[in-house]
Amino acid sequence: MDLRVTVVGGTGFIGRRLVERLAGRGVPVRIVSRHAEDDGGRAPQIERVVGSIEDPSTLERAVDGASAVVNLVGTTAAKSEQQFYSLHRDIPGRLAEAARLAGVERLVHVSAMGIGLDAPSLADRSKAAGENAVREAFPGANLVRPALVYGTGDHFFTRFTQLARSAPAIPLIGGGRTRFQPMHVEDVAEAMARVLEEPGTAGRAFELGGSEIFSFRELIERLCRAIGRRPWLVSIPFPLAEAGAYSTQWLPHAPLTVDQVRLLKTDKVIRDPQSAPAALGVRPRPLESFLSELGKEK
Ligand SMILES: NC(=O)c1ccc[n+]([C@@H]2O[C@H](COP(=O)([O-])OP(=O)(O)OC[C@H]3O[C@@H](n4cnc5c(N)ncnc54)[C@H](OP(=O)(O)O)[C@@H]3O)[C@@H](O)[C@H]2O)c1
Repeated sequence: MDLRVTVVGGTGFIGRRLVERLAGRGVPVRIVSRHAEDDGGRAPQIERVVGSIEDPSTLERAVDGASAVVNLVGTTAAKSEQQFYSLHRDIPGRLAEAARLAGVERLVHVSAMGIGLDAPSLADRSKAAGENAVREAFPGANLVRPALVYGTGDHFFTRFTQLARSAPAIPLIGGGRTRFQPMHVEDVAEAMARVLEEPGTAGRAFELGGSEIFSFRELIERLCRAIGRRPWLVSIPFPLAEAGAYSTQWLPHAPLTVDQVRLLKTDKVIRDPQSAPAALGVRPRPLESFLSELGKEK
C-alpha cells in the first residue's frame, strides 16, 4: 500500500513524534488540528489542515485522498459528560464512517489503557464507547491503547517536576497505589508507525505500555530522587480527593477535576500480553534513562 497518512492531532505530544517519524521515512503526511503550528510544517511532504475535526468540511478534507488515518484527539479534562462522549465516541465514529466511505484502507484509533464501559471515570467510559463506535463504522480499524506516555514535554513528569521543585508537598491520590506501565513517547510513535506500515496488523488492538510497572507513589519517589528533591508525600484518600476536586474544578486553572481523580481508580497496565509492543517488534526503553536526563536539567 502506498502510505498517505492523515494524523488528526498531529501537533500534540504523541502526534508530533509520529508525524516526524513518518515524514522522516518519506511518507506524505497531512496534519489536522485546530491551531496552526510551525514545527515540522516546512517539510515538503507535510500538509496542514487547520480546523476542528467536529466540523464536517474539516472531516471531509481529513479523509480525502488518504490511504490511512490516525485519530489522536482525546482529553481527560472535558467540561461535561456530553463533551466527553462527543469527543471520544461521536466524532471518532463519524471520522471512521467518513474514512470507510472515502476508501481509506487503514484507520488507527488512539484510545487509552484501563478503559471500560463500566470504568469509574467518564473519560475511560467514553473512550470504551468510542472504540465500539469506531469498530462498528470501520471493522478493520486498529485500536491503540497507550499507557502513561512520557518524554520531553509530557503531561505527567513535566507537571510533577514543577510541583516537586516548587511545593513542599505532593498529594498521592488514593495513597499512590494506582499502577502504571509508562512508555516513552518515541517508542509509542515507533509502534504506531509499525502498525501503519505492516498490513498484517489491520484490525488488531495494541496496548502500548513499557517494560516496567510502577505505582504512582514509586513514580513520584523516583522522579524526586532523580531531581534531588524531597517533598513531603501526602496520601489523600479517594473520597477526600474527589471532594477537593469538586470544590475547585470550576476554576479556570483547576489543578484536578473529579473525573481525573476517578481515572486513578483503575490500573493503567497491559491486560493482554499478545497485544504488547513486543508484538510489533518494539522494545520500550527503561524509564530510568529519561529520569536521569531530567535530573541534569536545571
Ligand atoms: N499522553 C498520554 O500519556 C496518553 C496516555 C493514554 C492515552 N493517550 C491518548 O493519546 C491521544 C493523544 O494524546 P496526546 O498526549 O498527544 O494529546 P495532546 O498533546 O493533548 O494532543 C491532542 C491533539 O489533538 C488536537 N485536537 C484536539 N481537539 C481537536 C479537534 N476538535 N479537532 C482537531 N484536532 C484536535 C490537538 O491540537 P489543537 O488543540 O490545536 O486542536 C493536538 O494536536 C489522546 O487520545 C489521549 O487520550 C495519551
